Amino acid sequence: MKTKRFTAEEAAQAAEILTSGGLLGIPTETVYGLGANGLDPEAVARIFAAKGRPQDNPLILHIPSADWLERYCEHVPEAACALAAAYWPGPLTMILERKPMVPDVVTAGLDTVGMRCPSHPVCRAILTAAGVPVAAPSGNTSGRPSPTTMADMLEDMDGKIEGIVDGGPCSVGVESTIVDLTVRPPRLLRPGGITLEQLRAVLGEVAVDPAVTRLMGAGEQPRAPGMKYRHYAPKAPVTVVRGDPAESARCIRRRIGDRDGVICFDEFAALFEGHPVETIGPKDDQSEQARRVFDALRAFDGTDAAQIWAQCPDPVGIGLAVSNRLNKAAGFHIIDAEAEP
Ligand code: TXA
Ligand code: MG
Repeated sequence: MKTKRFTAEEAAQAAEILTSGGLLGIPTETVYGLGANGLDPEAVARIFAAKGRPQDNPLILHIPSADWLERYCEHVPEAACALAAAYWPGPLTMILERKPMVPDVVTAGLDTVGMRCPSHPVCRAILTAAGVPVAAPSGNTSGRPSPTTMADMLEDMDGKIEGIVDGGPCSVGVESTIVDLTVRPPRLLRPGGITLEQLRAVLGEVAVDPAVTRLMGAGEQPRAPGMKYRHYAPKAPVTVVRGDPAESARCIRRRIGDRDGVICFDEFAALFEGHPVETIGPKDDQSEQARRVFDALRAFDGTDAAQIWAQCPDPVGIGLAVSNRLNKAAGFHIIDAEAEP
């Protein structure tokens, strides 16, 4: 199949791919998504095939406005309306009770469904033109880092989807925050563009699912099925070094082998001359780190580094999402710089 490239101005034309049962690469403010008509079970099934995605991993539905929640969700709680008023359109997915009309293939048979209203203007134009909820996971092959540009997505999906729309590089760079509103207290299942602090400002108490900060043991089930899979991982093993940036840089410097690569803050790149280095932005600019973290992981897929050492921001603000993605790429293999001799 030839994958047709659309410009941002051609969003409405591209949306016809969705309404005719095809797969469309869509830009969002978080990452590029692999979209299909969320009410068409056959089209949705093709998403799983194109990504090589396990069937038990549910998809989220993208809608153009919060008014659409009632169409697909039962008993929409006050908390959902409050979050939508505060942070939609934007990088936030809410888990809510589903209505029976949502196809089983979307929810992987769960009685809940993830709902998201994206802010990217091109995505909104596509959703409005399509007039259907769009089921869309991140546009990567299962297990690879999520794509934050059209070129990244084409690396994985060229020839496997009918079309893709170019919306430029993603402004957030990590996937949406997922909050489960079907449990009390509400629970953060995946950290993302809307911070835990922002959720708590609206909801009060918010629990953090253990899968966010540590590896799930055998027999343990994270509430977001996707959080149990090894993710974002380059071919070489990754070790995350946390702590004060100057300390973590020194710690990596001491341990690094000749053929090892480094993911580091801009300020420390010079320390690792002669090694493959990917920078993720200044140490104090977590938004920039979020925009660049997947690119850095993707870049290492193409190298023959023996292992990769990664500096990591503190887990506050959007730093929680950046550290979660790095920790997952490392299979939660983490060392503390300050604990070093
Ligand atoms: O930013 C994003 O959310 C991007 C863009 C394209 O919108 N999408 C995205 O989708 O990241 P995906 O499929 O790569 O990640 C969705 C996560 C998965 O871990 C999945 O298991 C979880 O959401 N999920 C989906 N429906 C769920 C449900 N009903 N209950 C719990 N977790 C759910
Ligand atoms: Mg994904």
